[in-house]
Amino acid sequence: MWKRHPGLVPESGKKHLEEKHSLYDMPHPPQSHPLRADPRIMAFSYTQLIGITNNFARNIGKGGFGVVFHGCLENGKQVAVKLHSQSSPQGEKQFVAEVQNLTRIHHKNLVELIGYCIDGVGLALIYEYMAQGNLHDHLIGKAGRILSWSERLKIAIGAAEGLEYLHHKCLPPIIHRDVKPSNILLGPDLEAKIADFGLSKAYRGDNETNVSTNVVGTPGYVDPEYHNTLQLTAKSDVYGFGVLLFELLTGQFPLVPSSGKPHIVQRVTSKLVYTPIDAIMDPRLGGQFDANSAWKVEELAEQCTQASGSRRPTMTKVILELKDSLELEVGRLNSKLKHSEDIDTSLMSSFEIEGDTPGPSLPFAR
Ligand SMILES: Nc1ncnc2c1ncn2[C@@H]1O[C@H](COP(=O)(O)OP(=O)(O)OP(=O)(O)O)[C@@H](O)[C@H]1O
Ligand SMILES: [Mg+2]
Repeated sequence: MWKRHPGLVPESGKKHLEEKHSLYDMPHPPQSHPLRADPRIMAFSYTQLIGITNNFARNIGKGGFGVVFHGCLENGKQVAVKLHSQSSPQGEKQFVAEVQNLTRIHHKNLVELIGYCIDGVGLALIYEYMAQGNLHDHLIGKAGRILSWSERLKIAIGAAEGLEYLHHKCLPPIIHRDVKPSNILLGPDLEAKIADFGLSKAYRGDNETNVSTNVVGTPGYVDPEYHNTLQLTAKSDVYGFGVLLFELLTGQFPLVPSSGKPHIVQRVTSKLVYTPIDAIMDPRLGGQFDANSAWKVEELAEQCTQASGSRRPTMTKVILELKDSLELEVGRLNSKLKHSEDIDTSLMSSFEIEGDTPGPSLPFAR
């Protein structure tokens, strides 16, 4: 599993749409940085990986890069070890690109790279461990609990802040290219961080677009404009984020091939004509959300998934809208809390009144 065998057939279940050429046929490859540029990034030997993962005992996931294992460093810090799979259609070049990108990117809403392993026989990336797994598992109910509306909004804000950092605070800016719930990981308190910069691409400024020879992304999340023109901009990530917002609202999958309207954008927007927002909301929320807050997110999701990238908002604007939406939901929760406190208080005072008022005399115990 560890050794690489060139020429193996790519994994059949791989969802990425890679056509004709490799991911690395890009006009502006990420600028090269020495792997040890950041002293905080640790180099591990394969033997050390065996030690920290207890001989790869706990498998926590699998993706295009390979299998992910739980590990524990000597200092007790928990990590996720992403092993390169021999059957991955991606490869050493992606590995190097991912490390190069990550060594220069640090933000509270981006999964932190702790180290890497290139020791001749294999490749691995070692990340901070995100205890609550990925958002996709939470949305499909695999994580064992249903996310409330306010939790969904907080997760969306965290993820949006991570993307905003990539788009507007990195030089050159970074486009993620694979925004989707399985690439949003959750910490112990459900704090959201963006994972997987393997598909990220440094580009050289807002006015310059990148033209590539292949489409990269996951079906359902790929910006149709990028798909048609092969011109990649940050607005392609905004499109993927809009699809993700529709998922947070509805709890539905982005693509349902058997449906008359397979894509979530058409499915949701067509349903909303003359219908209240409840018609599209995730039934597992049990109606527990502020309708104006939900409408705001629905409108935002529509704007993010506009056919033309130029009509989509920036991630900075997305964050502002999401924060407004959260404020509305917090208002609802506070008034609900106040209402239940008022009921408690009135119950208490009625007890007090009852206590003060002489009631019917009770028989004494004998
Ligand atoms: N740092 C981490 N902490 C905890 N779990 C992780 C971590 N990184 C990955 N995982 C788990 O491993 C799974 C597989 O991750 P991976 O990024 O390889 O694939 P993916 O995101 O599901 O698909 P793709 O290859 O298309 O991005 C994730 O969905 C997540 O549940
Ligand atoms: Mg991933």
